[in-house]
Amino acid sequence: MNGNWWKEAVVYQIYPRSFNDTTGSGTGDLNGVTKRLDYLKDLGVDVVWLTPVYKSPQHDNGYDIANYYEIDPLYGTMKDFDELLNETHARGMKLIMDLVVNHTSTEHDWFQEAKKSKDNPYRDYYIWRDEPNNWESKFGGSAWEWHEATGQYYLHLFDKTQADLNWENPKLREEIYRMVEFWGKKGINGFRLDVVNLLSKGETFEDDHVGDGRRFYTDGPRIHEYIHEMSTRAFLPYGMMTVGEMSSTTLEQGVLYTRPDRQELDMIFHFHHLKVDYPDGEKWTKAPINFEQLKEIFTKWQEGMDSGGGWNAVFWSNHDQPRAGSRFGDGSPEAAKMLATTIHLLNGTPYIYQGEELGMTSPAFKTIEEYRDVETLNAYDLLREQGVPEKEVLSILASKSRDNGRTPMQWSGEKPHAGFTNGTPWIGLADNWETINAENAINDSSSVYYHFKQLIQLRKKHPIIQSGSVQFLDHLHHALFAYERVLDDKRLVVVSNFSSEAVEVPLQIHEVLISHLPIQSVDDQKFVLPGYGAIAFFA
Ligand code: GLC
Repeated sequence: MNGNWWKEAVVYQIYPRSFNDTTGSGTGDLNGVTKRLDYLKDLGVDVVWLTPVYKSPQHDNGYDIANYYEIDPLYGTMKDFDELLNETHARGMKLIMDLVVNHTSTEHDWFQEAKKSKDNPYRDYYIWRDEPNNWESKFGGSAWEWHEATGQYYLHLFDKTQADLNWENPKLREEIYRMVEFWGKKGINGFRLDVVNLLSKGETFEDDHVGDGRRFYTDGPRIHEYIHEMSTRAFLPYGMMTVGEMSSTTLEQGVLYTRPDRQELDMIFHFHHLKVDYPDGEKWTKAPINFEQLKEIFTKWQEGMDSGGGWNAVFWSNHDQPRAGSRFGDGSPEAAKMLATTIHLLNGTPYIYQGEELGMTSPAFKTIEEYRDVETLNAYDLLREQGVPEKEVLSILASKSRDNGRTPMQWSGEKPHAGFTNGTPWIGLADNWETINAENAINDSSSVYYHFKQLIQLRKKHPIIQSGSVQFLDHLHHALFAYERVLDDKRLVVVSNFSSEAVEVPLQIHEVLISHLPIQSVDDQKFVLPGYGAIAFFA
């Protein structure tokens, strides 16, 4: 097998909770995923990424793991998992899982032991201090929780039920590698590594006088050592593909994490392009997309990873983000197709988040009761405490909450829950499911679904999409996102219109590869790209 098979792959992310429920519990399950494998095979994806299905109290929907070796009964059994894995492989696809090793649930046995006493052998698996510093949790409030019985604070960069692990402790690291091997022996094909650039916290735990503490633990002092060790000990022996989630890492670090000779990770997700509507870094406010910034970020990362020898994971959507079509476009199928063309022809491995291939939209929830996410509920409380009026808070949540991306997969027009469940769904659906659903999409050759399918096929057919160099074209109209890919004597140009107005493009089309709206040529030196149009052509 080609050692770099993941460079040619397209990955599909499944958030099992919202994918397909076969028991009527209202929550999706593993058998539900197995039942839909043919759907994924038909779409043409190569790799399925399953977000956490391990045993968990589900305070953060499974990112709070209580046992790394067990499947949460909510999702089924280990037998169901084995069947899913076999059936995925039987269809020639691969399966990767989520590796959450920055923290465990406080219900994990290690933490249960650790909190018994200061000299418990597991105490040092976590991070304890007599005094807290001023670091803040990413879910709001202090990052330290007081533990009365032993008189110390423990660190939690996320929810207080997610205690940060102490990677300085070699015993802890050994436990993690053993666990990775357990899954490797089962035959899974890799991992997406949750918030993995936060593992190394340093030893000083100073107060942060200019920020919330992140500069001390993001890409921290021993991070490359830890990742290299984990890779050589646990990933490489099993030929695993690895993708690190690194929200705010830098380009320089990104190259270091992914340059093959360093044996760390195959690729990373950074989130800089998903913060262009966070003015001054503030997520919980309503703001338009800063499109110039969006282009600058892509230019920097695409050109920089390419020339530095690193590798990008490219994506618009995941379970932590509002639906891309609603955020970067107007929620229309045209905008969904435009965004797909833009991302799939870039340099890197593309990721599709469930429902993106249908053009699913954010649900526009109107009451706080409709939300489930711990981060969202915390933000609601904080904003209300600050005196922000209820109506405004709800409008912010409708544009920023992670639940916007977590509503159930819209399979069909079947009443009352779009074929997702026969029970009561754990979270409500977007109310456009009667029109936007997989069944309709498959019956309509002009649907968003077929556009994705075509993009996946093009990637397999044209080596320039997998391995051409990339350069941005920044001299065109300001509403355009444009780049070219070059391989040998071939030049593939991609132009996307992020506005609703038609725009004239002064470029010459030689041979069209893909386009979803009628292109009008003005003369042989110019053409008009309709609002939310995108075109890829050989020049
Ligand atoms: C990642 C996950 C997110 C989770 C957090 C803490 O960002 O994608 O869903 O809440 O890590 O594990």
